[in-house]
Amino acid sequence: MANSDAELVGKILDLKKKRGAVILAHNYQRAEVQDTADFVGDSLELSQKAAGTDAPVIIFCGVHFMAETASILCPDKTVLLPDAKAGCPMANMITVEKLLAKKKELPGVPVVCYVNSSAAVKAESDICCTSANAVKVVESVDAEEILFVPDQYLGNYVSTQTTKKLILWPGYCPTHVKIRAEDISRLRKEHPQAIAIVHPECRPEVIALANHVLSTGGMIRFARQTEASELIVGTEVGLLHRLKKENPSKKFIPASEQAICPNMKLITLEKVLWALEEMAPEVKVPEDIRIRAKRAVDRMLEIGQAEQKVG
Ligand code: 13P
Ligand code: SF4
Repeated sequence: MANSDAELVGKILDLKKKRGAVILAHNYQRAEVQDTADFVGDSLELSQKAAGTDAPVIIFCGVHFMAETASILCPDKTVLLPDAKAGCPMANMITVEKLLAKKKELPGVPVVCYVNSSAAVKAESDICCTSANAVKVVESVDAEEILFVPDQYLGNYVSTQTTKKLILWPGYCPTHVKIRAEDISRLRKEHPQAIAIVHPECRPEVIALANHVLSTGGMIRFARQTEASELIVGTEVGLLHRLKKENPSKKFIPASEQAICPNMKLITLEKVLWALEEMAPEVKVPEDIRIRAKRAVDRMLEIGQAEQKVG
């Protein structure tokens, strides 16, 4: 007979203690996985947590590049990704070979890479960024022209917030492009009092209709602080769990019910338990790549977080 969630959680918590593990979960994880984690956050917050933890084992409930970032920052820790197939299709839209070829075409142009990229791509980049600090990172680069990879929509949004010229890579998030401008317009008509907050991975025409453009962590903070009682939320629907839980008196309306990241949903409580039992699947970045990728991640972490917003 299958274990109930309560049984699974009990077993996970027992074994987590024995292994000295910490469970980190991204804001898009299944509700029950978020509720079992020690910390839930956005990509930047999770890398900061990974960098600061004393735990010898990190169970990373997220996608592959996030576990890789933890491995880059904590080479002495065991980083486990409960489903090895949980990748990010956007991160796979650039390879190190293609990046090297582009860099040859653009000698001397620095590279800013979105954290949604492989360790090998980070190793060939000058600095990393997340959705929470992309504008500040780009502003920090001492050049007027920058190659921004791999998210064209985040890159396009950043270029509206800076005087620097960004050369964009044609990558995108298959989940966020499901959110359409028509969805926001219709929901605005149905909920005239609502404020629209969207993720910078959304299409430019969606961003143009939003009140604020925020990382998932930024959305969590904004929802706590705002006096608005209705919010249209333009990102992966997993974020709604935390928004509702932390703000029971406010109403959160998903911009699109279709915005589900199938990779994020691969992580289940069963798989978290198996990862703890088997101490696998482990994500480990080879040392030569890790050292070079760490430079790009460290430069970003020195800059930290600065939310970007529109109008
Ligand atoms: P955040 O860093 O804003 O949580 O975004 C991560 C991500 O993968 C968005 O699709
Ligand atoms: Fe990648 Fe998009 Fe999923 Fe985020 S939501 S992990 S960018 S596919």
